[in-house]
Amino acid sequence: MNKIKAAITGIGGYLPDYLLNNEELSKMVDTSDEWIMSRIGVKTRHILKEKGKGTSDLAVPAIRELLKKTSTHVDEVDFVLCATVTPDHQFPATANIISDKLGIKNAFSFDLNAGCSGFLYALETASRFIESGRYRKVVVVGAEKMSSIVDYTDRATCPIFGDGAGAVLLEPTTEEYGIIDSIVKSDGFGRVHLHQKAGGSVMPASEETVNNRLHYIYQEGQPVFKSAVANMADTSVAIMKKNQLNPEDLDWLVPHQANMRIIEATAKRMGIKKEQVMINIHRYGNTTAATLPLCLWDYEHLLKPGDNIILATFGAGFTWGAMYLKWAYDGEKTGKPSP
Ligand code: UT7
Repeated sequence: MNKIKAAITGIGGYLPDYLLNNEELSKMVDTSDEWIMSRIGVKTRHILKEKGKGTSDLAVPAIRELLKKTSTHVDEVDFVLCATVTPDHQFPATANIISDKLGIKNAFSFDLNAGCSGFLYALETASRFIESGRYRKVVVVGAEKMSSIVDYTDRATCPIFGDGAGAVLLEPTTEEYGIIDSIVKSDGFGRVHLHQKAGGSVMPASEETVNNRLHYIYQEGQPVFKSAVANMADTSVAIMKKNQLNPEDLDWLVPHQANMRIIEATAKRMGIKKEQVMINIHRYGNTTAATLPLCLWDYEHLLKPGDNIILATFGAGFTWGAMYLKWAYDGEKTGKPSP
């Protein structure tokens, strides 16, 4: 019998209604649409404005759509894995809260934090549970309320990020579809360039940490940019070589949406055309662990069984990686039309 592989069998997504555009941002900090579009490539980002709502409130509608589209009953779900850096609370896990809100009672659930690489790390982790033969329906969700940790007085970071959630269903297959290979890496030294200073056990919240704005994202843009280009491109090229994939064999690159210039540099190194690359950074910004599933959600209607797809990512940690999969179903039947 063929080996069991994990295949993505459906996608759901959710974006909060409020749209923060570059014109509005330019009134909040000293910036311009021209600078943001040329240096980052973001035009608008969705923001969850309602008080008392958190990351689980983004994940729940995304998973609800996923379960509906795949005709999956909540009782069938075995495992819920949530990738996020903006959990509802320090504890319990947001995945526990999501499961409760959806009425998922027969599953275990936990969170995974790998910065912007969270979704790819979560797919890598969840696929092993499927391959074991023990779990048959696994929900992997990347969800972020980045606006809860973005400093809207810091012009170097506030144009980048947005809120949103994307979820996929993983199921076993013995056919020639599903997750085939991956390269995942981390280097904790990178933390010096990208982190949240306060709120953890090293520096618990205090009046001083709040006054000094230490609960927001701290990022040294240039070293992060350099590492992102080098590592995302290197692993993407490495996974192509490892699987004897030429540029023309690849149907889609699904890159983390951190900066349009990083996406272009990665595609160039891989020798692929812009038409082979999923891009939505201009509409959603960097939604951290949600960028990859939100790309798949936007492009689902174009995906065909057997499509060769590489997911590539880089994020806080540093964490990075690439994954090669063969698409498992006809997305035209379930995907939404192009926006
Ligand atoms: O997803 C997690 C991983 N994160 C990333 O991949 C992000 C990686 N880094 C980046 O995307 C880029 O480094 C940034 C978008 C954060 C910054 O772009 P940059 O081209 O590296 O700009 P910079 O930091 O070198 O700043 C260049 C200039 C500076 O002015 P001076 O010193 O040259 O006078 C900044 O003060 O641009 C200035 N600047 C701005 N100007 C207008 C920085 N932010 C802004 C802004 N509007 N929003």
